[in-house]
Amino acid sequence: DKAGHKHFMAKEIAEQPVVLANTLANYLTANGEITLPDPGIDFTAIDRLTMVACGTAYYACLTAKYWFEQIARLPVEVDVASEFRYREPPIPARTLALFVSQSGETADTLAALRYCEGKADKIMSVINVPESSIARESDLALPIFAGVEVGVASTKAFTCQLTVLLMLVLKAAKARGTITDTQMADHISALRSLPALMNLGIEQGEAMQSTARKLAEARDILFLGRGVMYPLALEGALKLKEISYIHAEAYASGELKHGPIALIDKSVPVVVMAPRDTLFDKTISNMQEVMARKGKVALISNAAGIEEAGDGTWAQIKMPDCPDIVAPILYAIPAQLLAYHTAVAKGTDVDQPRNLAKSVTVE
Ligand code: M6R
Repeated sequence: DKAGHKHFMAKEIAEQPVVLANTLANYLTANGEITLPDPGIDFTAIDRLTMVACGTAYYACLTAKYWFEQIARLPVEVDVASEFRYREPPIPARTLALFVSQSGETADTLAALRYCEGKADKIMSVINVPESSIARESDLALPIFAGVEVGVASTKAFTCQLTVLLMLVLKAAKARGTITDTQMADHISALRSLPALMNLGIEQGEAMQSTARKLAEARDILFLGRGVMYPLALEGALKLKEISYIHAEAYASGELKHGPIALIDKSVPVVVMAPRDTLFDKTISNMQEVMARKGKVALISNAAGIEEAGDGTWAQIKMPDCPDIVAPILYAIPAQLLAYHTAVAKGTDVDQPRNLAKSVTVE
């Protein structure tokens, strides 16, 4: 049932505020404690994490790496499952292996998990399907409570994965003493503010539609982001190529001058994901290098960011102000809606893109 939407993907994007509030309710007590299902995990007994996944779930891991390292001071390695499983990576003592999968049945991710059995101290997973193989074979499986996701392009599963991972990071930080009570309370209230912020983000659909109509004419599109916005740029590019069939690539904005800037000319739109945070000035200086070469910049930022750097850009998408910690979750909305409206403008099969399956259970 598409609940009045034209596509399942549109429905699944729109329902994120409600779904995410439910995810939060499943992990947060009224007084702001984070509860994990039994048997829980002792974060003082591990020294590092290795995170493995595919596709969008891999980008959720990449985002979580920034959080785990900055907030819980835990070193994290992230890999795509198809590479990890054949590399025979050594797994040092006191390693937590963490697998992220919507379906819980992705063949490469499951094989990577089995490789870690008997090597990692603990095997954990963040899954949407609690009865799945990956959930069953984990010491601890954290459900994301996204409900059934029908669209091949993952949307609500991604934001729910990020939300559960962020709560896990906060739990780890608390156990390891790397976070103050005030910081913890701030982060919890940032999480609680997300459903309302996402609603405000979704209300910017109009600006995203008109930008998408312009993107639909392009042959190649670049996405740029820095820090936690880099994985979001990767996710935006994946979503776009998956359903609109337009070639899209993402780069960490600092990498631009190490090669990709050679691609820039007036026919290449560049989507810049940059909330007004501590890295904003750096990203904007990369954006200006693009504009100096006539690249067409679509800037996704908050009011302060657009006010400061929006002049002369080709398109602007305004997100509500939000605490830095939850920005990657909020900025998933424009990444998804840009891809969706571009695909609709191109007339492609949004829910069933060619050559793709919802769950990749073969290698
Ligand atoms: O079920 P999983 O989360 O393990 O699936 C992983 C990828 O196949 C999946 O995220 C894929 O990249 C999506 N179609 C992206 O929208």
